[in-house]
Amino acid sequence: MSPNSPINEPNERATRQIYACKSIDRLIADSEIPAQRLQKTLGRWSLTALGIGAIIGSGIFVLTGTAAAGEHFETPSILHAQVMDLIINFVQHGNLSGALMHGRPAAGPAIALSFILVAIACSFAGLCYAELASMIPIAGSAYTYSYATLGEIFAWIIGWDLILEYAVSNVAVAVGFSGYLQAQLATFGLQIPDQWSSSVWASGHLTGAYFNMPAFLVVFVLTVLLVLGIKESARTNNLMVVIKIGAIVTFLVIGGMLVHPANWHPFAPAGFSGVVTGGAIIFFTYIGFDSVSTAAEESKNPQKDMPFAIIVSLAVCALLYVGVALVLLGMMKYTEFASGAAADAPVAYALKELGAHPVFQSVIIIGALTGMLSSLLVFQYGQTRIWFAMSRDGLLPRLFSAVHSRYKTPHWSTWIAGAAVGLPAGLVDIGDAADLSNIGTLFAFVLVSLGVIILRRRQPERRRGFRVPFVPLFPLISVVLCTGLMTGLTVITWIRFFLWLALGLVIYVIYSRRHSEFSQHKRH
Ligand code: ALA
Repeated sequence: MSPNSPINEPNERATRQIYACKSIDRLIADSEIPAQRLQKTLGRWSLTALGIGAIIGSGIFVLTGTAAAGEHFETPSILHAQVMDLIINFVQHGNLSGALMHGRPAAGPAIALSFILVAIACSFAGLCYAELASMIPIAGSAYTYSYATLGEIFAWIIGWDLILEYAVSNVAVAVGFSGYLQAQLATFGLQIPDQWSSSVWASGHLTGAYFNMPAFLVVFVLTVLLVLGIKESARTNNLMVVIKIGAIVTFLVIGGMLVHPANWHPFAPAGFSGVVTGGAIIFFTYIGFDSVSTAAEESKNPQKDMPFAIIVSLAVCALLYVGVALVLLGMMKYTEFASGAAADAPVAYALKELGAHPVFQSVIIIGALTGMLSSLLVFQYGQTRIWFAMSRDGLLPRLFSAVHSRYKTPHWSTWIAGAAVGLPAGLVDIGDAADLSNIGTLFAFVLVSLGVIILRRRQPERRRGFRVPFVPLFPLISVVLCTGLMTGLTVITWIRFFLWLALGLVIYVIYSRRHSEFSQHKRH
């Protein structure tokens, strides 16, 4: 049978469609249409502030404690084992019996090393983002890059996967916000009943709580504001960044005075495996640096300023994070942060337990809360804009790009994002949400890094304002490091991730493929 026979034709067309790439020239030309053009107002420092604004959320204030303390389950289960541990045991012994099935090993104070290692891994991925952003300076980030480089199916997968980076990470940030809000209310002598202020599901079992109301409410209020059209301007963002950094620096000074060096011993209780596992968790704290690339279209000189902003924002955050880790784990023994209020709000807990002056406690907690709010806002906003782009391309229903007649905001997608984040935030624990967000984001980084290699082959002549050095080596290092971090996560996280991707593929086959602009159904 000839390959062009009528029987094969629909299959061929379908295959052509799933690998169809958007033309970069067209993407750039579309973005230049005056009615759709965004103003180019952002310089390198505003972009850097944008990065820092998105990066510092609740992760540093919450996960540092639990990642250092590790997690122990009474009942062994393969679901709690790290994929990396299983692979190592299988390679060494031909079976899985030696793997740790009781949970994660503790990183201890060596979590400070995890922060450095993860910053290095993110830098390689960051360089790849920078090259693509300087080459395709268009809103939409990884979703747009993959539509232009890898084809429609990958664009869909990435767009779907980015929900884990934006919406699910915000679930975790909202839960972290709730923990710190309660710590602050406690200093005023106010207490929300536990059943209405903690997760319904944590560490694999029901907790007896009904709903985490503060976590839900903060998302609800931000959703209303976003529907009304509030958008963090570059100037507000700069202010937020100053407040966040101010809170962290105050903590470094006040907490620094309460450090007992004895708490730094043992430094790495579980050795390198604790450092890697800790790294896979605190990777969450760096999520957001790639959002600098979403502003490429609004940047004055993306070619030079994108890579600058990505690398500098990563470096500044890494420095602050290492400082917080060393101070926090010098204030109290890492084992203290395993559960309860010490796990939910470790910075607030340590300051209170060690008797820091209440004024300083409040300055730090309120600064942290303000920072979390701005990070929540940026991610809720980012999520709706990615859905907006996907809907414009036909991959999601038109509803997602419908604009409110009066407020001129994509109100439907904003409400849907509000429900998709607010309801789970009322139910789940920060750890589960952060792990799922980590695996999804790392996967996006892997695809973006591969995208750089592919585009260098397919379009070597296209102008790149910034070029990753030593291609394909550097993108490959990024792929290896990001995959390595993914294997530091547990089997249950991998299962959830695959289920999420499978659900995405079902939606693609049933809906998106038929409605995409490349679809034959639409053309006839
Ligand atoms: N990086 C963000 C945080 O730590 C998501 O909250």
